[in-house]
Amino acid sequence: MRHTKVKDLLNSTTTLQEVNAKGWVRTFRNNQFIALNDGSTINNIQCVVDFENTPDEILKRITTGAAVSVTGNLVESKGAGQKYEIKVAKLEILGDSDPEKFPMQPKKHSLEFLRENAHLRVRTNSFGAIMRIRSVLSFAVHNYFQQKGFVYVNTPIITGADAEGAGEMFQVTSLPLDNLPKTEEGTIDYKKDFFGKHTNLTVSGQLEGETFAMALGQIYTFGPTFRAENSNTSRHLAEFWMIEPEVAFNDLDANMDLAEDFIQYVIKYALDNCGDDLKFLEGRLLEEEKSKPQAERSEMTLLEKLNFVLENNFKRVSYTEAIDILRESTPNKKKKFSYIINEWGADLQSEHERYLVEKHFKCPVILFDYPANIKAFYMRLNEDGKTVRAMDILFPGIGEIVGGSQREERFDVLVEKMKALGIDEKELSWYLDTRRFGSAVHSGFGLGFERLVLFVTGMTNIRDVIPFPRTPGSAEF
Ligand code: 4AD
Ligand code: MG
Repeated sequence: MRHTKVKDLLNSTTTLQEVNAKGWVRTFRNNQFIALNDGSTINNIQCVVDFENTPDEILKRITTGAAVSVTGNLVESKGAGQKYEIKVAKLEILGDSDPEKFPMQPKKHSLEFLRENAHLRVRTNSFGAIMRIRSVLSFAVHNYFQQKGFVYVNTPIITGADAEGAGEMFQVTSLPLDNLPKTEEGTIDYKKDFFGKHTNLTVSGQLEGETFAMALGQIYTFGPTFRAENSNTSRHLAEFWMIEPEVAFNDLDANMDLAEDFIQYVIKYALDNCGDDLKFLEGRLLEEEKSKPQAERSEMTLLEKLNFVLENNFKRVSYTEAIDILRESTPNKKKKFSYIINEWGADLQSEHERYLVEKHFKCPVILFDYPANIKAFYMRLNEDGKTVRAMDILFPGIGEIVGGSQREERFDVLVEKMKALGIDEKELSWYLDTRRFGSAVHSGFGLGFERLVLFVTGMTNIRDVIPFPRTPGSAEF
């Protein structure tokens, strides 16, 4: 007999004869009530066991984590909170789960403990909800761009380029590490390597994406990116997923419009399609808030926060204005920040970004026109000669969620900038072809997918919104 998803059973419009459900036992109460979950929804279906006619050996094997198959009628439930339950006629244990050994017991586990069990934590309500929301959000990303006629481009994972020029790359080699071939000068001879050159895992698909935008008009990438930055924070992963749209003929303003519209679309999509999971996570957060002192509690619930982003325009502020605000906010250099910005030209730290978003503007902020020297080489230089058409989108509780820019479309200006930064022109000759042949104004941005999932789920550690997190010193599973 084919099994029916728990979600479909719970959404049934009538009672049903003889249904079959398969899933994992969450709890088993009073030797009678199984809470069965199959991952299709946060909600369990209650299965009522005829314990008087079920052998003890079987009852004993109905333990948390066990896989079971239940067959019986779908009947109206007398219990509170559920419309239907299964009156079990036949029960089969598909896979036992030793209650002494199964780590995911029905009690509150710490997030740290769950991280150490990333392969099993998805069997908890919270992680089931997070991973379903993550899946829906990625579908929403594709939906948004596909509806607008963007072409999805798969940029390479292995590349010779350092798109961001930050040098935070994982090297890729097939050379024997204990016997590296050397050149006559004594350096590693990458000509003998698999690709005949030095390669690394991509930090961004942007440069390759630009070449496609200059032919297909509007493109987006959505794939894994890698950064060997040693930032052991709750916002950084060594392997994360990035969405990078790139659009020919868009200037920075159009780029901001696109980013704002896109983010609001995907958040709305989650609100419309993940109601039960979001409500569950909201409840979880409310519980957590209760343990905090009043002053530290969030003014908004999770759903209020998400709706707020939909209903309010993002505030657009230039870097220079932002610096003035930050300076004015610390008139006597009070210890508001651990690092005080005195000079125009300094990079903002996450504490400054969060001050602007959470305390000053109290809404998402798009910062633009950053000093050229703190941004990547490919950004369009402004007429002032010292700022570039960069934009970062800052979100409450997250900080930077998007980084993007209008690109430098002028061949000579770009080459000069590369020279000044010591970037090898020959290495990037293919990239410069976009400026050699039919160059045009174009813009794009990168959205860190996990930072979006963090925001939507209300979680606070990025390790909790990706199935198997990669962070410094940690690549288990
Ligand atoms: O600001 P970033 O470095 O920009 C780029 O890579 C550009 N090439 C994007 C573009 O214009 N096409 O990274 C973009 C976003 C950040 O705003 C952040 O959300 C996320 O990627 N991000 C990370 N997320 C998790 N862990 C990390 N280590 C991240 N580094 C960046
Ligand atoms: Mg950035």
